Amino acid sequence: MDAKKIPAHVAIIMDGNGRWATARGKERSFGHKKGSENVDRIVSHAFSRGVKTLSLYAFSAENWARPKAEVDELMRLLKIYFKKFIKKVLKNDVRLYVMGDLEKLTPELRKLIDSDMKKSEHCKEHILNVGINYGGRQEISAAVNKLVAERKEITPESIAEALYTAPFGDPDLIIRTGGELRLSNFMLYQAAYSELYFTDVLWPDFDENEFDKAISNFSERQRRFGKISDK
Ligand code: IPE
Ligand code: IPE
Ligand code: MG
Repeated sequence: MDAKKIPAHVAIIMDGNGRWATARGKERSFGHKKGSENVDRIVSHAFSRGVKTLSLYAFSAENWARPKAEVDELMRLLKIYFKKFIKKVLKNDVRLYVMGDLEKLTPELRKLIDSDMKKSEHCKEHILNVGINYGGRQEISAAVNKLVAERKEITPESIAEALYTAPFGDPDLIIRTGGELRLSNFMLYQAAYSELYFTDVLWPDFDENEFDKAISNFSERQRRFGKISDK
């Protein structure tokens, strides 16, 4: 694969856990467990392919509307993830960011996230950005409110600088697994010129080969940014 064509920033809407489990006659939580295991394999694989920044949509601001038992299970899995995952993060020189309104999470989960982010502050090789209680509209309105409070001018650039993604920028490629053709409030501002890739493959089945297919599809796109060619 042409290294120049590897997207620097890939974002993934990891969808389809529930359907994956239901299709096997299991509880939705079984799909979430499988899905969380898949995160590990795709994170390592993406970085090994030369992706600099990987953004993952783990829990939306709207996902609180699910049954309490399912929300609890998702929070439990996030806790496990941030408890054990950090070792690998540090080993591979990956800097962790978590985007979203973290106020609503339990103090225990927040503490884990804060400490993981802190431990990875010196890491430079890659960036892992995880969206938790994240919503694109909420992010934009919070950014604008911040600018207003600071009496700053509202411009496309100043808004971008006030978003969670300010340190690393917009995704080049957004992948959504699970067959739905929508963004579900994910990175609305940042997606202005992102290439979009949708696959019917459910997140627990989205393996290294499926990831490579998305990258290879991206490498064939012509990104014009309003011009008449990509030159
Ligand atoms: C994605 O899978 C995980 C989260 C939204 C947390 P879903 O739980 O949405 O699975 P489906 O879309 O119902 O199959
Ligand atoms: C989007 O998936 C959120 C995450 C993947 C975390 P949803 O399953 O919540 O999206 P909708 O409800 O189908 O739009
Ligand atoms: Mg879904």
